[in-house]
Amino acid sequence: MYDKVMESVRYIEEKINLKPEIGVILGSGLGNLTDTLENKQYLDYKDIPNFPQSTVKGHQGRLVFGLLNGVKVLFMQGRFHYYEGYSMKEVTYPVYVMKMLGIKNLIVTNACGGINTSFEPGTLMLINDFINLMGTNPLIGENDERFGPRFPDMSEPYDLKLIEKARDAASELGIDCKEGVYAGFMGPYYETASEIVMIGRMGADAVGMSTVPETIVANYLGMKVLGIACITNMATGIQTVKHSHERVVEIAQKASVKLCSLVTKIIETI
Ligand code: HPA
Repeated sequence: MYDKVMESVRYIEEKINLKPEIGVILGSGLGNLTDTLENKQYLDYKDIPNFPQSTVKGHQGRLVFGLLNGVKVLFMQGRFHYYEGYSMKEVTYPVYVMKMLGIKNLIVTNACGGINTSFEPGTLMLINDFINLMGTNPLIGENDERFGPRFPDMSEPYDLKLIEKARDAASELGIDCKEGVYAGFMGPYYETASEIVMIGRMGADAVGMSTVPETIVANYLGMKVLGIACITNMATGIQTVKHSHERVVEIAQKASVKLCSLVTKIIETI
């Protein structure tokens, strides 16, 4: 794994003459966050040695490098989901690459379902903790100490200072931003009503099918993580209409205007 990651890193460093300081993983429908980047440079996943490929509609598969208000940023346009059939190591592969490219701060975004009834579609939620309900995790297997410790601490998976910065940025922009716990479910089906009752009782405010693996690996690698969830629908049983991926993407695209100004502002302060 280490050698594979380093091969990807060497390829990227050969092609791209910008050393990113911050990484951003974009969720469903949030891909246009890269619109405001300057001096953009692209690398398709398919061209990067050892990189997995994306298969979901609404997810492009490329890395976008550029400047956001002068800060060097790497955006991942299209992520890998466990439900697509990738292994957990593949799902989190780009996080290893980001770390080895020198990135210390990672912003993870996603589209997800709201469980907390004070939320509504379009609400942004700063993630303050996660519950891993994916039935596995990306650190299973032999450990390579060059990456991180065998038993990583997970007491602050989302960096409290970054959350504070995000909170301040939101209030400066007049964006109403909630905070809460994200439960990662395996997917790809939208949960049953009873599963949502269960997850809600566990303490989750939102549920989705991503983010948790990347957060675990980023913490393992010693990176600081900020998670921003976009509530695209209320979860099963709370919302009475049936779910549709098209609707999820549509709401995410609408909310991405807010998310874009928030992420830009946060990046200025990191
Ligand atoms: N559940 C899980 N994942 C999701 C949802 C949901 O309701 N909405 C968007 N992604």
